[in-house]
Amino acid sequence: MRALANVLSAGDFGADDLQLKASAQPGTRQVQLLIAGHSGQIGRKLCRQLATRGDNFLAQGLHLRITGLINSREFTWRDLDSQNSVTYVRQPDDWPQILRHFLSGHIGARQFVDCTAGDAFISHYPELLRHGIGIVTPNKLANSGSQVDYATLQQLARQCGAPYRYETTVGAALPVLGPLADLVRAGDKVKRIEAVVSGTLSFIFGRVNNGERFSVAVREARARGYTEPHPGADLAGTDSGRKLLILMREAGLKWEPEQVKVENLVPEELAAESDAERFLAGLVAHDKTWAERAEAAHHRSLRLVYLARFDGRSASVGVTHVSNTDPFALLAPGENLIRIWTERYQPVPLGIAGPGAGPELTAAGVLTDILKAAAQLR
Ligand SMILES: NC(=O)c1ccc[n+]([C@@H]2O[C@H](COP(=O)([O-])OP(=O)(O)OC[C@H]3O[C@@H](n4cnc5c(N)ncnc54)[C@H](OP(=O)(O)O)[C@@H]3O)[C@@H](O)[C@H]2O)c1
Repeated sequence: MRALANVLSAGDFGADDLQLKASAQPGTRQVQLLIAGHSGQIGRKLCRQLATRGDNFLAQGLHLRITGLINSREFTWRDLDSQNSVTYVRQPDDWPQILRHFLSGHIGARQFVDCTAGDAFISHYPELLRHGIGIVTPNKLANSGSQVDYATLQQLARQCGAPYRYETTVGAALPVLGPLADLVRAGDKVKRIEAVVSGTLSFIFGRVNNGERFSVAVREARARGYTEPHPGADLAGTDSGRKLLILMREAGLKWEPEQVKVENLVPEELAAESDAERFLAGLVAHDKTWAERAEAAHHRSLRLVYLARFDGRSASVGVTHVSNTDPFALLAPGENLIRIWTERYQPVPLGIAGPGAGPELTAAGVLTDILKAAAQLR
């Protein structure tokens, strides 16, 4: 890697005075964090939350230290002894060097925090776990591929005693996956799931049901940071499909992605548009159709929702109508609701509801996972 410059104190690394306070408190546990995607929506909020809450964690005997930051262009490394940092230009095959930096030194436990939106680091998860490095991520991709890959990561995390936490992949900061896995571990069996798991689609349909144009609602969702960088990823339904698959897997079901039926909200030609602005402009042509569907539903006292469903035999995500008194119809725009029927939770299901998108909340959920992983790494 080529070094760009020596930077004495990079703001993203947090306050230097924390180091002094930590060294004044014997017995403080140290955890090194390598954050990928620190310049993205979630990553930026996470770095800010780590910087502003560092004192609170120290008071609880935990010193979270960001030692590395990676994005698509740069890798910045901070030497924990000298406090100096160096920024390198990213190269195609620089992962071994990045990992070597992370494994150097003997300070505390290590966590890799993957706040990227793509699959750039997913193939490295097994290696990280084998080194005993914890992984925390809001990125769904590693857990929504093949069942074999999902099971391998779970098994490695157990075998290597390395925490692998991804609570924010479903419902953002809502506690969904942890409680679900706890139920199953305690012997309960999941019979049925119904959920609005896309904060983006919940926001968009909430607005459309209230008379807003579809294209305007999508733009608004994007402006609020609810959508993926390209909103087509949300409207394709694949994001909801992935979340349903992760829910099912945490429930102990061994399903493959192809078994989840997904309804795309935009026609094929528009779905293929890779430029986000042109994609948004193309949505205007569909405003009339969505307005008519919402209006027709309204006249029958129904509302449109994008629902993820598993009924024990089939799994699907798509648009459906629910009565305007149904719990799914009563969600505020942007809210998620996950209803889970089990052997113990029936006929009344377990329900978890609340805001299910947004960078600030999601980053707070990632931070919670970092704290839980740190406790596990003790
Ligand atoms: N937004 C939400 O409300 C929400 C909720 C739950 C979960 N999530 C998940 O959180 C993750 C992050 O979302 P986001 O909205 O923060 O995405 P984002 O704004 O697009 O940020 C992506 C980050 O990843 C970096 N990146 C991209 N390619 C990379 C590569 N090859 N190597 C290293 N870094 C790379 C980007 O760096 P550059 O600056 O160099 O491009 C940027 O820092 C996604 O997986 C998303 O599904 C988001």
